[in-house]
Amino acid sequence: MEVKTLEEIRGECESCRRCPLSETRTNVVFGTGNPRADLMFVGEAPGESEDLSGVPFVGRAGKLFDQYLEAVGIERNDVYIANILKCRPPKNRDPLPDEEDLCIGYLRDQVRAVSPKLIVCLGRIAAMRLIKPDFKITAEHGVFAERGPFRIAAVYHPSALLRDPSKRGAMLADMLMIRDELERIRKG
Ligand code: URA
Repeated sequence: MEVKTLEEIRGECESCRRCPLSETRTNVVFGTGNPRADLMFVGEAPGESEDLSGVPFVGRAGKLFDQYLEAVGIERNDVYIANILKCRPPKNRDPLPDEEDLCIGYLRDQVRAVSPKLIVCLGRIAAMRLIKPDFKITAEHGVFAERGPFRIAAVYHPSALLRDPSKRGAMLADMLMIRDELERIRKG
């Protein structure tokens, strides 16, 4: 199978007109970080700050996420961060199944290009798309599953932590587990 480069995939996203979100976007939010990252995070869809900047996870939720990365000693520049959708849904509503279907190929190409060893879904929406349709974030966060060449898990979405701070302890525990898993993999 042909593996496209991230720049090729970015170009395809920037000219994408597959769904109506392309008409309301300010910027495509393609993805950011280390193009050869061992660890890839996948969120749901851009919010307002991301739409304005073209960079994932830079708004309130993103700033909270940065604090977790820092707390467990993971450099944001060392990981790759992308979303299921590359364009912002109006008023930050959940992605529609059709929008996900039309956009998911870009993410799959990004995964092939980056070839991470660990993929971590940020929140239920990404987990339901990438792990299993009936994924239950409260019961199943922080559990790694094998998926061919990589391992995959989900943690709470940082927006959920803003809404419900009682989940923050669980998020820290999951992020520490991810850090340890990454170190184990790197040691071989
Ligand atoms: N929420 C997401 O799921 N992704 C972003 O990029 C920002 C907020």
